[in-house]
Amino acid sequence: MARLREASVPSPTLAAELLLMHSLGHDRAWIYAHPEVVLTAAEAETYFRLLERRAAGEPTQYLTGKQEFWGLEFEVTPAVLIPRPETEHVIEVALERLGEERGIRINMRTGAPTPRSRIADVGTGSGCIAAALAHELPHAQIVATDISEDALEVARRNAARHGVNERIEFIRTDLLGEMLERPRESRRGEQLFDLIVSNPPYVARNEAQDLPREVREHEPAAALFAGPTGIELYERLIEQAAELLAPGGIVVLELGYNCADGVRAILSRQRVWVNVSVTNDLAGIPRVIAAERARDPK
Ligand SMILES: C[S@@+](CC[C@H](N)C(=O)[O-])C[C@H]1O[C@@H](n2cnc3c(N)ncnc32)[C@H](O)[C@@H]1O
Repeated sequence: MARLREASVPSPTLAAELLLMHSLGHDRAWIYAHPEVVLTAAEAETYFRLLERRAAGEPTQYLTGKQEFWGLEFEVTPAVLIPRPETEHVIEVALERLGEERGIRINMRTGAPTPRSRIADVGTGSGCIAAALAHELPHAQIVATDISEDALEVARRNAARHGVNERIEFIRTDLLGEMLERPRESRRGEQLFDLIVSNPPYVARNEAQDLPREVREHEPAAALFAGPTGIELYERLIEQAAELLAPGGIVVLELGYNCADGVRAILSRQRVWVNVSVTNDLAGIPRVIAAERARDPK
């Protein structure tokens, strides 16, 4: 742990514990219940090798290969963004707005039938948003897209791990491009989405140097950077969502730091959006924006 502190690793005690748990294949409770245990030479070698990699900047989650999100454990590799706790607000807002506006009832305890809903998760990465929604909405059919085939492979494994792979179709495409290429007449009724969610890349290119080195040097650039301003992908995605959402359908987007005003402005330029709401995260930062596609656009 001293090695991690010396290297200015954030939360060094937690990182050391997680790496020790991973090296020994035991949970935290076991480790604290067995203070007498001495590491074998092989275990010590594994642990100290991981500590060195962490001290050199590799995120703990890439070393252990996992991260929890929405109470579910996800495989992570350097091909995908590590799921962040603030992204859970996307799930909360999506479930809330689906319930309010689409009349979709969610009974997490009994799993009672809910009306079928069609959902798209754009830029699925590890698949954490798609799998969490599939888990909560047992009758949802989900399309999850990403531009990276390597990310989609991880997402497919995560969906299988949580038993929701049969309800998620993974597609490699630019945002919702492939769905827009389908003939317009097939984009009616059943083919339109009730909900489009996304945590898109939103870091401006010139803000790269402000990111922690763990993020800048190890997480995939395609998951982080949008373009010169950071809001470029929102613009295209919101236009596509207007085409592909059913009347009354909802778009729910995670917001980057300082993106709220820009994304609000994009929504207000297009007349189809009503009931726009912004939700702050636990730090009080605007984190999620949601809007409804008007039933009768003026
Ligand atoms: C910020 S990450 C979000 C990953 C995951 N949804 C999450 O919340 O942890 C953005 C994801 O979008 C993908 N991506 C970037 N540009 C894209 C594009 N034009 N079309 C589709 N996916 C894209 C990246 O590969 C990355 O997996």
